[in-house]
Amino acid sequence: MTLIKEQSLTEINSFTHRVIFPTVLRLLLILFCTFSHADKVKVDKSEWGLEAGKACITCHAKTSKGLATQWEESKHGQIGLNCLDCHRASEDDDDAITHEGEVIATVVSPKDCGRCHVTEYNQQKGSVHANAAAIIKNRIPALENVGGPAIVAGGCDQCHGSTVKLRGDGTLDPATWPNSGIGRINPDGSKGSCTSCHGRHRFSKAQARDPAACMRCHSGPDSPDKEVYEASKHGMHFAAERDKMNMDNDLWRAGIEYSAAPTCVTCHMGTAGKIKSTHDVGMRNAWKLNTPVSEKHYLVVFDNGDKLNLPESQDPPNRGASMTKPDGTLGKVKAVASPERRRQAMKAVCLECHGKAFANNFMTQFDNVVRLYNRKFGEPAQAIMKALYREKKLTPVAFDEPLEFTYWELWHDEGSRARHGAAMASPNHAWWEGIYEVGRNFYTKFLPQVREVAGKELGEELIGQHVSGLDEHQWLQQPNKANPILGYGSGAE
Ligand code: HEC
Ligand code: HEC
Ligand code: HEC
Ligand code: HEC
Ligand code: HEC
Ligand code: HEC
Ligand code: HEC
Ligand code: HEC
Repeated sequence: MTLIKEQSLTEINSFTHRVIFPTVLRLLLILFCTFSHADKVKVDKSEWGLEAGKACITCHAKTSKGLATQWEESKHGQIGLNCLDCHRASEDDDDAITHEGEVIATVVSPKDCGRCHVTEYNQQKGSVHANAAAIIKNRIPALENVGGPAIVAGGCDQCHGSTVKLRGDGTLDPATWPNSGIGRINPDGSKGSCTSCHGRHRFSKAQARDPAACMRCHSGPDSPDKEVYEASKHGMHFAAERDKMNMDNDLWRAGIEYSAAPTCVTCHMGTAGKIKSTHDVGMRNAWKLNTPVSEKHYLVVFDNGDKLNLPESQDPPNRGASMTKPDGTLGKVKAVASPERRRQAMKAVCLECHGKAFANNFMTQFDNVVRLYNRKFGEPAQAIMKALYREKKLTPVAFDEPLEFTYWELWHDEGSRARHGAAMASPNHAWWEGIYEVGRNFYTKFLPQVREVAGKELGEELIGQHVSGLDEHQWLQQPNKANPILGYGSGAE
């Protein structure tokens, strides 16, 4: 076992060194390491704070005082950047309206912010976040069926983002706006909304560094990062030592400006040692944890900044190759980061506060939980479900049968919870609310429902083929030496 593992690891490493590293090492260094503070806004001061924008404030300080106060106290307000600098539009914009003699738009898209914040816009543009609305369009229409359009607008879209639509008069359609979903598709075609994390109209970076900025969306059954973080030692220290986090500082480097605890931002976006801050939260993740079976992924970067997560089981493209991008068009490959490289970037963050052996061993424990989940539950359950659809034992309509809910929750709820718990150090979510529930539901709901749906013969055949033969399930045949079911100390053990 160990030998095979080590061998394949060496293969991956030597492959990475041989094929990927020499050609793209410099590009990868750019990807992970070189966005520096020197790159701040380059737009000339003479281009903002224009006279025409000052009337907006006089009036809005009366009509929407709270909003105007937030702007006034913001960095933007303090440097004299006003309402019109963000809200101005040109007459041929779809969402342009004439308001008090000026052409403005209510929606201020990432592209509008990107006029000045080029670096952040370019990083955000190709990220998983930016694609969060695009991916749900055809992925799980069944969830729209269980819910309905009202809950798409009030639920999914608030986190993932809508496609913002206009009514005939150029005003915004209430079925699609407001929301500050992370991958919102804007009237100008750009994706995302910078105000997902940077609440308006303060647009502060200190506020966005707080875990609360992420928790609004990253909570609940399938992405319980809020709950996991709060239950981890990191969350424990953050709660107790928040006043030592120095979040208002201009520079915010792990281990330098703060060391009490990492926040979500520290690990997924923040500056740590040679690893520089990024607005692409997916870069440092090796796995995909919210899938029926987890797989590690390459990150393919195209020359226009688009990105693709490519499963490790597929051959990575060479630099310069043509490849289909997530939007279906062809793109030219600029760089490929291997899963190991992505993991290294994440580990480099840990090393600002922990030792090497600690970080390595932690990652081994985490990877082992993912593999346990995959092999013991994820892969067998997936294979059985595929066979049941193939044999027409389940209708092709999703979510109209109890087994479909059982299977869905197995990977999407408790299965994801277990993997997120192991990734971010909450033992409760890894075990009690994680693998323990996966196991309970697998043995006492999933398998019995499979037998019911498939009929006795096919049911036993499928379970025999995919479950009974696995080492991981042999315990079912072996009486326990100690049986704790009646409680410890009852004499039963
Ligand atoms: C004479 C006062 C006045 C001036 C000047 C003014 N506004 Fe307004 N604005 C209002 C009022 C009142 C509303 C609310 C109208 C309503 O109920 O929707 C509003 C609404 C808005 C909205 C929301 C539009 C929507 O989607 O419904 C935006 C954005 C806005 N103003 C921006 C600006 C900007 C930018 C300027 C400067 C170019 C500006 N305003 C100048 C009074 C003013
Ligand atoms: C740094 C850019 C920026 C500046 C400066 C700015 N806004 Fe906004 N504003 C936004 C963004 C982003 C939104 C969110 C709209 C969306 O895309 O959904 C917004 C939304 C709004 C809305 C509609 C949402 C709501 O909460 O009612 C109004 C009204 C508005 N702004 C008015 C103003 C006024 C008045 C000023 C000046 C005092 C101003 N804005 C300055 C970026 C800006
Ligand atoms: C016309 C140029 C311009 C536009 C448009 C603009 N900004 Fe800014 N922004 C600036 C400048 C200049 C600074 C100050 C930079 C510095 O710290 O030296 C700034 C600072 C910031 C900061 C840092 C605030 C802090 O706490 O230090 C954030 C966050 C930010 N902007 C977000 C946005 C977002 C989001 C948008 C779009 C809704 C936007 N900006 C639109 C010019 C702009
Ligand atoms: C509370 C915010 C929230 C709501 C509401 C929500 N999601 Fe999500 N969704 C997320 C987050 C966060 C993730 C990322 C999970 C991860 O990668 O750990 C996600 C992941 C997903 C994924 C998987 C993406 C992938 O990486 O493969 C799909 C598909 C999805 N959501 C669809 C939906 C649909 C459809 C709805 C509405 C019926 C919905 N979501 C409602 C926050 C939300
Ligand atoms: C996922 C949450 C999130 C989103 C979405 C987001 N930001 Fe940020 N942003 C942050 C965090 C966190 C920081 C502070 C990072 C740090 O200190 O390392 C930050 C910092 C910034 C800064 C200050 C950079 C500096 O060096 O001072 C600017 C400017 C900025 N963001 C602009 C934007 C723009 C423009 C967008 C949209 C294209 C955007 N942000 C979208 C979380 C976000
Ligand atoms: C407005 C909702 C929203 C906010 C705010 C938000 N996220 Fe997300 N995030 C999502 C959704 C939805 C996804 C799933 C996107 C997908 O799979 O395409 C996601 C995905 C992710 C992922 C998974 C990337 C991957 O590799 O698949 C990470 C990590 C992440 N977010 C971190 C953060 C952090 C850190 C913050 C706060 C600074 C944050 N998010 C704020 C909605 C949000
Ligand atoms: C100590 C560092 C650390 C902190 C703090 C942290 N994370 Fe993570 N996160 C990780 C690691 C490590 C992984 C797994 C990476 C991999 O796949 O290799 C992960 C995975 C994730 C994923 C899963 C992406 C996927 O593959 O589906 C999301 C979403 C996420 N984190 C969001 C958050 C949010 C939101 C917070 C704060 C509430 C947070 N993280 C806090 C280190 C951290
Ligand atoms: C900003 C500093 C900082 C960073 C960065 C950081 N940690 Fe931590 N970590 C801490 C602190 C402080 C503790 C609490 C130590 C204690 O209380 O004994 C801790 C505790 C832990 C624990 C619990 C250990 C125990 O004794 O139970 C784990 C596991 C952990 N960290 C993993 C990681 C991983 C993995 C990363 C990188 C993805 C990381 N940490 C990044 C500061 C950090």
